[in-house]
Amino acid sequence: MAIEAWYMEESGENQRFPLHRNPPEFVSMSKLEELGVLYWRLNPKNYENDEELRNIRESRGYNYIDFLDLCPERMENYEEKLKNFYTEHIHENEEIRYCLEGSGYFDVRDKDDRWIRIWIKEGDMIVLPAGIYHRFTLDTDNYVKLMRLFMGEPVWTPFNRPQEEHPARKSYIKNLMEERVGMPVPLEAH
Ligand code: LAC
Ligand code: NI
Repeated sequence: MAIEAWYMEESGENQRFPLHRNPPEFVSMSKLEELGVLYWRLNPKNYENDEELRNIRESRGYNYIDFLDLCPERMENYEEKLKNFYTEHIHENEEIRYCLEGSGYFDVRDKDDRWIRIWIKEGDMIVLPAGIYHRFTLDTDNYVKLMRLFMGEPVWTPFNRPQEEHPARKSYIKNLMEERVGMPVPLEAH
């Protein structure tokens, strides 16, 4: 099953609503790939013994994992964190998330700076490339449990827009122009 993504109605007032345009304008996986977004559909019940997950982690060097339970009882500074997640930003590294329970929206900017909303549900694993403008919100079900993956020691620092001079942004834009996004970073570079 493919992932669902669509162009957003940006004037929508509640970030947890789907915010489709009228009529809806869906975005294909290949369009997301052009932006450097990668996607796998995995079995979330079997993440401890999943060979496919192991292969992805090995081939892309994702040796680190932890879990993020987005629920007010299990998270410190819940409201503040959600607010920061929904503030448009980039990172120096890929943002790799595997949805184990619940659902949520990752919004990414396309080449024309329009918001694309990607609906993540149980079993969806996505990689947002370093330097892509993005944000995250829960949907109206209001719950998600994510596995966070990383290559090496994790760095979660967000750099809020504008970041046009940030090296990760510049390198992302360069790759986008040369249509080289989504290529794995050579391991020896780390
Ligand atoms: C983030 C959360 C959703 O980093 O993992 O945006
Ligand atoms: Ni982020």
